[in-house]
Amino acid sequence: MTSDAPQSYSGAMRAFHWATVILLTFVYVIAFSIENASSGEQARLLLTLHRTAGGTVLVLTLGRLLWRMRSAIPSLPSDLPRWQVFAAHANAAGLYGLLLGQPLLGLCASWLHGDKLVFYGLPVPSPLPIDRPLSRQLFELHHLVGYLLLAMIAVHVGAALFHHFVRRDTVLLGMIRGESTIDDGSTVKTRG
Ligand code: HEM
Ligand code: HEM
Repeated sequence: MTSDAPQSYSGAMRAFHWATVILLTFVYVIAFSIENASSGEQARLLLTLHRTAGGTVLVLTLGRLLWRMRSAIPSLPSDLPRWQVFAAHANAAGLYGLLLGQPLLGLCASWLHGDKLVFYGLPVPSPLPIDRPLSRQLFELHHLVGYLLLAMIAVHVGAALFHHFVRRDTVLLGMIRGESTIDDGSTVKTRG
């Protein structure tokens, strides 16, 4: 670890992370409930909730990336094999890419379909002309990327559990509590 790198993520970065996890769980549960809706009205309500929560993921991720640019990010354990460091960075970059790309796909597909979007009660005018064939293609992509994002999250969670239970390092605790055990065995807490 470089001397100026913090021991773990700041309170704000951890708040962004866990808020995204909660919100994304909601987005997926709603997405997979839409086709089991008992009425057209219920389906429309679920869709509105899905779009609003999905749009919030986009805004939250933009805020998180802006915050990240001015935050010090902790290094991974120095004894981690290089391929695992590379995999961790690639996974994080991929997750950020899809956290931005997936809501944008849903947004564009909906606009191209001609849907009137309302975000927290405010109508969001469409900047795109109606193009149903393109909308269908983007929705197919939205479904596909939805599963790709789930797969990347599964790898990500698997890696976090591997760090905690197999390597027994403090990577997971750093993201949960902001605490990290340094080489001399003492525990440090990062600034909020
Ligand atoms: C991170 C954010 C998002 C994720 C992870 C996500 C994920 C998904 C998934 C997995 C489905 C497919 C559900 C199924 O297979 O039955 C879906 C459907 C859908 N999503 Fe999203 N979505 C997100 C954001 C958005 C946004 C921002 C919008 C629009 C503003 C949107 C609009 C839609 C619509 C309209 C459908 C239904 C498409 C259809 O009926 O074929 N999504 N979403
Ligand atoms: C919705 C699911 C999740 C998403 C989208 C997600 C996304 C991310 C992203 C983008 C980062 C990189 C943070 C940065 O450096 O800016 C990260 C870090 C991390 N996440 Fe998640 N995460 C999710 C769920 C989880 C869960 C369930 C766990 C725990 C079991 C977890 C554990 C961690 C840990 C330990 C780190 C720090 C890794 C490091 O130090 O490099 N994540 N997460």
